[in-house]
Amino acid sequence: MQIAITQTTTPKPKPDETNLGFGVHYTDHMFLLHYTKEKGWHNAEIVPYGPFMMDPASMVFHYGQECFEGMKAYPTPSGGVQLFRPEKNAQRMASTHQRLCIPEIPEEVFVEGVKQLVKLDKSWVPTQPGTSLYIRPCTIATEPHLGVKASDEYLFFVICSPSGAYYQEGLNPVKIYVEEEYTRAAPGGTGFIKCGGNYGASLAGQEKAHKLGYSQVLWLDGVHRRYVEEVGSMNCFFKLGDTIYTAPTSGTVLPGITRMSCIDLLTSWGYTVKEEALAIDDLMAAAREGGLTEVFGTGTAAVVSPVGQLCYKEEIAHIGGGKIGEVTQRLYDTLTGIQWGLLPDTNGWMVPVE
Ligand code: COI
Repeated sequence: MQIAITQTTTPKPKPDETNLGFGVHYTDHMFLLHYTKEKGWHNAEIVPYGPFMMDPASMVFHYGQECFEGMKAYPTPSGGVQLFRPEKNAQRMASTHQRLCIPEIPEEVFVEGVKQLVKLDKSWVPTQPGTSLYIRPCTIATEPHLGVKASDEYLFFVICSPSGAYYQEGLNPVKIYVEEEYTRAAPGGTGFIKCGGNYGASLAGQEKAHKLGYSQVLWLDGVHRRYVEEVGSMNCFFKLGDTIYTAPTSGTVLPGITRMSCIDLLTSWGYTVKEEALAIDDLMAAAREGGLTEVFGTGTAAVVSPVGQLCYKEEIAHIGGGKIGEVTQRLYDTLTGIQWGLLPDTNGWMVPVE
């Protein structure tokens, strides 16, 4: 694929790597790819980072045809930069596009666009422990039209943000509120894709949880409000005895790439991982009896984050005595070790950008 590159003439100063926050700073360039019915996906370009001029009738503003991905680039000990399983993001984006009636972007075009952008903005990849270059690919419907239908024009863009930990808590366990009033997804809906609408609809629950002093919401299934599904920005795992449970990704749960990688690692270490519906009542009962020994979330932004408290119907389950669990720590160390090139990448997950 030919990518036309226009380099910035006014590079920005780099932020303080010891105080990056998450998703606050943006690099010097962005990748753009355009779609029209006549030309298909075309005109791949990298241009200086900056605002878009958009028609107020653009369909994304009215009917929410929008979706995104989250991925990261990491520095390697030899001075290189590598991506974690970028083809999986391209594949998930394709399934998201399908659900939203957006024409798919070929996997190699998606991956090459991300690689070229990260290569050009390589000096923005932070090197402080716990930091990385967060990459945000995104598609929006740009046709100016007010009838409800799939747009005939789209813009796919990729921006990058040098970022620190997603949670202020870092690797200290987070407190999670189990939501019973609002739901996130229902069968047949969009729970399994990464569209902005899912996140917009989750904000009321998240704000409620914040007001009560919790970092995030654990969503229950939308039909029975009984089975645990996922947390706002991550998939969730529960260790009961030697078995580790996580919700199946059958329609209402995001098929997380960190989730699938953690399942692979856990299985290779001899743990039984069950992708099964798990009732919140059973979890709370297990916690009461001391059987719920670890809870952790996984996600690109969140990496592997320990959960220390679950609040459900005013009962609080305390997990792990306020400390990160053994399996959670091992997963965090192994995954970040592979991503930073400090441990052997025996699964072939890492992809160099050059
Ligand atoms: C990610 O982990 O990449 C996400 O997209 C979660 C969140 C920041 C929306």
